[in-house]
Amino acid sequence: MTLCFLSLCILFISSSATLQNKVTDNPADELVAAINSNRTASKSSSLYNNPGLACIALQYIKAYQGDCGVVGGENAKRPADSEFAETFAPNCAVEASTLTPITGHLLGCQSKYAKPSVAFSDILMKNGKSLEILQSKNHSEVGAAVSGSDGGGPYFWCVLFSNGKLNNSFVIEGHVAKISRPGCFSGANDDCNGAIGLSGTLHIWPAVVTGLIALAFAFRI
Ligand SMILES: *[C@@H]1O[C@H](CO)[C@@H](O)[C@H](O)[C@H]1NC(C)=O
Ligand SMILES: *[C@@H]1O[C@H](CO)[C@@H](O)[C@H](O)[C@H]1NC(C)=O
Ligand SMILES: *[C@@H]1O[C@H](CO)[C@@H](O)[C@H](O)[C@H]1NC(C)=O
Repeated sequence: MTLCFLSLCILFISSSATLQNKVTDNPADELVAAINSNRTASKSSSLYNNPGLACIALQYIKAYQGDCGVVGGENAKRPADSEFAETFAPNCAVEASTLTPITGHLLGCQSKYAKPSVAFSDILMKNGKSLEILQSKNHSEVGAAVSGSDGGGPYFWCVLFSNGKLNNSFVIEGHVAKISRPGCFSGANDDCNGAIGLSGTLHIWPAVVTGLIALAFAFRI
């Protein structure tokens, strides 16, 4: 009996390990897939999809408080570097001692929701510098996030790159990602489509219903 149970456990553990790299129904995971397929097609390495780093990318978006006007361009602002250790990591339960240098970031914002492949090519890859960042050999891992604001647009997309050693950087306490809404982030094996622009306090079932309404609006179904 016990033995049977143990082997079931092992089966379960190994299948969740395999699932870790699966693309779930999550726009942030789909964005990472687009990034990795562009990198491998241009002979750069595929990057590890790190949920701790991705959760921090979602916090990075939240620091903009929905203000698209200060993303890029003349009035560009960015969160202070100290925010990573002081706010972003604690919000994600990422162990401070495992924070690793960010080797590049891509951030884009648009009033309308876009499919991840379109967000990749039309929002994030706007100029030659972005392509250089995307294909840089300096990175070993990536985390992506997408979030709407106030139950709708504007929609922010953020990709953070790092050169950390895979399982040794942006380590989440207890190794279970702290899922927060609104917004979706990659690497956590979290089905998230439709939760992009929701307010954070809803329970699962109303969240799904509201999510469908929000999506219907975004896609004008
Ligand atoms: C990678 O993405 C860039 C920007 O969208 C595009 O110009 C380029 O053709 C892509 N490369 C490959 C190999 O898909
Ligand atoms: C890669 O890292 C080197 C050394 O830190 C730096 O000079 C270079 O600009 C980086 N490349 C990119 C594309 O960020
Ligand atoms: C982390 O990765 C290293 C090298 O790939 C491996 O030897 C080590 O066992 C891993 N540690 C954990 C906790 O998974």
